[in-house]
Amino acid sequence: MSVRKIPQQLVPLALIFAVALAALFIARKLLVPATFGDIGYYRAAAVGEIASQPIAYAGSRACLDCHDDVDQIKRQSKHRSVSCEVCHGDAAKHVEAPDQVKPIKPIGRGYCPLCHGYDPARPTGFPQINPDVHNPGRACMSCHNAHNPMLPHAPEECAACHRQIASQKTVSRHATLTCTTCHETPEGHRSTPNLIPAEKPKTKELCGRCHAQGADSPPEIPRVDLETHGGRYVCWDCHYPHFPEAAR
Ligand code: HEC
Ligand code: HEC
Ligand code: HEC
Ligand code: HEC
Ligand code: HEC
Ligand code: HEC
Ligand code: HEC
Ligand code: HEC
Repeated sequence: MSVRKIPQQLVPLALIFAVALAALFIARKLLVPATFGDIGYYRAAAVGEIASQPIAYAGSRACLDCHDDVDQIKRQSKHRSVSCEVCHGDAAKHVEAPDQVKPIKPIGRGYCPLCHGYDPARPTGFPQINPDVHNPGRACMSCHNAHNPMLPHAPEECAACHRQIASQKTVSRHATLTCTTCHETPEGHRSTPNLIPAEKPKTKELCGRCHAQGADSPPEIPRVDLETHGGRYVCWDCHYPHFPEAAR
């Protein structure tokens, strides 16, 4: 009886298989970390290694010893849920040596919009702004307090928004007149000026209140004949009301 010969193409195949098998064993020995498998599909040594890394964050409680004043304020504020180190960065080194290591202070305009910049994914009602148009050019902190971010009131003084007119009036003969002497200004104009406009005078009788011949006003105020002076024009066609001058 003759044994059937092994097909000769199997010999190189078997060889390749043997080499691959050997390579796998060598790779396992060389590449798989020593403690892999000790506690399941993990590298057991990783736990100790991570635990031995220096701790960078101290946690909010660590700040209380020395900055209780800040915490007292923040605790009552809308930022109560935002931890100190979210804004000030890892501060463990600072806790150890407060005088040598200072935490960062995010005082520019770049940081706050990470939470407050418009993003449709944020919850409805979350306070959001577009940093490109929301009071550009000034640090957020010049109007908002990071530890107590209340919404500041819009400026109420007329001069806060109409600076140039107010400055001109200050050095004019009308310096003592308040803006509202001549402008009826609804309360809402001070906070939403584009929706609620202020009134502009319409007739020369306004000026006549002080400048007409028989007007009930202090005698040192110069008088004109309201009927004839200026003809058919309104007074402010010739006199700028915020800096009135009489050409002499
Ligand atoms: C052991 C006391 C101590 C602890 C704990 C401590 N700080 Fe301070 N911190 C200081 C001192 C002291 C200063 C310096 C005050 C100064 O310069 O007027 C300071 C200053 C700061 C400043 C201002 C830095 C600057 O450049 O003006 C920040 C921000 C700050 N700490 C944040 C933190 C945070 C966040 C924590 C908690 C993780 C913390 N601190 C924990 C003592 C401490
Ligand atoms: C929303 C971000 C934010 C959070 C949260 C925050 N801070 Fe601040 N903190 C700032 C900014 C911004 C400044 C700088 C203010 C400035 O210069 O006008 C600052 C300033 C400070 C200062 C310097 C002194 C001062 O009042 O200006 C200390 C100290 C401080 N923070 C501690 C803390 C501690 C402690 C906590 C947690 C209880 C905390 N901060 C939480 C943003 C934050
Ligand atoms: C980690 C996210 C986070 C960061 C960073 C952050 N805030 Fe806030 N901010 C909040 C949360 C949360 C609220 C409360 C939202 C609410 O009431 O629904 C809030 C509320 C506010 C409000 C609205 C207060 C009100 O009365 O409606 C202002 C203004 C504000 N933050 C300003 C700032 C400024 C300025 C900075 C930068 C120093 C800053 N925030 C950084 C999370 C953040
Ligand atoms: C010139 C002052 C000023 C500056 C600078 C400023 N804000 Fe404001 N911010 C205001 C005023 C005033 C309001 C209230 C507006 C209102 O009532 O409609 C406000 C409102 C907000 C609100 C609430 C928006 C809402 O609809 O609830 C957030 C959040 C805010 N600001 C964040 C910021 C951030 C972040 C920066 C810096 C990038 C910044 N602000 C810079 C004056 C300022
Ligand atoms: C918060 C900013 C702000 C404050 C505060 C403010 N104004 Fe204005 N005012 C504006 C803006 C913006 C306009 C331009 C509105 C427009 O173009 O429709 C305006 C327009 C006017 C106009 C011109 C109306 C027109 O028909 O052309 C008058 C008059 C005026 N303001 C008077 C006042 C007086 C008086 C006060 C104080 C009692 C005042 N404003 C306070 C922002 C303000
Ligand atoms: C003596 C009365 C008088 C006083 C006081 C006065 N205004 Fe006027 N103002 C006018 C008249 C009249 C006009 C209309 C001018 C026109 O239509 O050409 C005007 C126009 C304006 C306008 C429209 C833009 C412009 O320059 O024409 C603004 C804004 C304005 N006033 C703001 C103010 C503010 C803010 C103050 C206070 C700082 C003030 N006014 C004080 C009489 C006055
Ligand atoms: C509430 C009173 C009052 C009203 C209203 C008023 N003025 Fe006057 N006006 C004065 C006073 C006060 C002076 C300064 C008198 C002085 O210098 O002793 C003055 C001075 C003037 C002068 C003289 C300036 C100079 O160089 O001599 C002119 C012109 C003038 N006003 C125009 C106007 C016009 C135009 C209006 C209407 C838009 C107006 N005034 C509304 C009180 C008023
Ligand atoms: C056509 C331009 C014109 C008009 C319109 C006009 N004025 Fe005059 N106003 C003048 C000139 C020019 C002078 C200086 C010469 C003079 O005294 O007649 C003057 C002078 C004045 C003086 C100073 C008088 C003095 O004795 O010092 C007052 C006050 C005055 N005008 C108020 C008004 C009032 C109020 C109105 C609206 C009823 C008005 N003007 C309309 C051109 C005008």
